[in-house]
Amino acid sequence: MQKLSIQGGYRLNGEVRISGAKNAALPIMCASLLTQDALHLDNLPDMHDVATMVKLLQQMGVQVDTSTQAATFSAAKVDKLEAPYDMVKTMRAAILVLGPLLTRFGEARVSLPGGCAIGSRPVDLHIKGLVAMGAEIHIEHGYIHATAKRLHGARICFDLISVTGTENLMMAAVLADGITVLENAAREPEVIDLADCLIAMGAKIEGAGSDKITIEGVSELHGANHSVMPDRIESGTFLVAAAAAGGNITLTGARVDTLDSVLEKLREAGAKIDVNADRINLVMSGRPQAVNVRTAPYPAFPTDMQAQFMALNTIAQGSAIVVETIFENRFMHVQELQRLGAQIEVEGNTAVILGCRQLDGATVMATDLRASASLVIAGMVAQGETIVDRIYHLDRGYEHIEAKLSSLGAKIQRIQ
Ligand code: EPZ
Repeated sequence: MQKLSIQGGYRLNGEVRISGAKNAALPIMCASLLTQDALHLDNLPDMHDVATMVKLLQQMGVQVDTSTQAATFSAAKVDKLEAPYDMVKTMRAAILVLGPLLTRFGEARVSLPGGCAIGSRPVDLHIKGLVAMGAEIHIEHGYIHATAKRLHGARICFDLISVTGTENLMMAAVLADGITVLENAAREPEVIDLADCLIAMGAKIEGAGSDKITIEGVSELHGANHSVMPDRIESGTFLVAAAAAGGNITLTGARVDTLDSVLEKLREAGAKIDVNADRINLVMSGRPQAVNVRTAPYPAFPTDMQAQFMALNTIAQGSAIVVETIFENRFMHVQELQRLGAQIEVEGNTAVILGCRQLDGATVMATDLRASASLVIAGMVAQGETIVDRIYHLDRGYEHIEAKLSSLGAKIQRIQ
């Protein structure tokens, strides 16, 4: 089992390039199933979930030619319409093959993702939408078995805002017969990036990025070239790390316009931030001020940045209230931060953090992707050595994070 060893107390200085966004790359790779032509993707991040998605598509018969940071996907000879449990259980985003398989091939067998550390993660809204579009769906032996002669357009209003729910149904609708309207749709930038790729492939989509998306089905899609958008959560993670550790860093290749709520919170914490084009500069000299955060769907504060800000608050001046409104169990990092000496009280979906001057290095355990990032940030500001165990969680969603942080001056290394 690999671990990270972190020596706390080092400031961050220098430049770091932001990788392609995991949560844009995963649905866009599934879009390759919608055409027999080649879909060429650039700026794919080198991380475990992307590798898992490549394997999942390849076992279906998709031909994937990868080079560094780019890959071509050709779904001309898909001969297996199934996403097996052993792949889906490690990566919930595999549910995103359901819409494309069903709308292009009329059938799909996808393992129910099951829960994960942060919550039960149901997919009932995905299924409800596909049924509204004419799919026959049976859940048996832990699999979703869906069939449809041809999906037809429908007006679908989401009870809850769901990012992959919006993405799955948008992909199902591009080849459906007629018009589909998705109401109360997710507005995340990754939804827009997927829509841009689908439009380049010949889809007719309007309103991506708003809460109402209209898709007019077409008979087939063609190949395209698409460059995956930069990762806003990786960007936010490095900025929070610098705000906690102090220093002067510049992100390059970032999408400034996707980070408004995060940049606002960092300024509230006392960071000096300058942005221009695709560069974000953050300077932090003193101890951060505690900042309250309340997670909500985009463009509000992202749940994927909650754990990182909690780490910042553990050593900030004053106390902060963190409210997690999206997932029912996304405070797994709290007990690990407490092992480092953090003063945190949790009541339901609310945590109160009393900032202390210094954390004390210890061995801690990563439980999910963003919790791992939170522990790395805390280790960077703790006294002495911190060991973060089970870092496979981290490797799922960050590209070479310890190399990037070390290049900025952090003392962090991977150990067996
Ligand atoms: C996406 O997950 C992201 N994953 C998550 O990022 C992110 O935290 C989440 O959106 C919220 O922004 C990918 O894009 C691959 P949801 P998703 O459907 O789509 C409930 C990371 O760290 N819900 O928007 O699975 C659900 O339980 C990951 O990169 C239903 O009840 O999240 C949750 O409470 C973690 N029924 C809420 O909606 C459904 O059918 C929002 O979930 C679907 C969702």
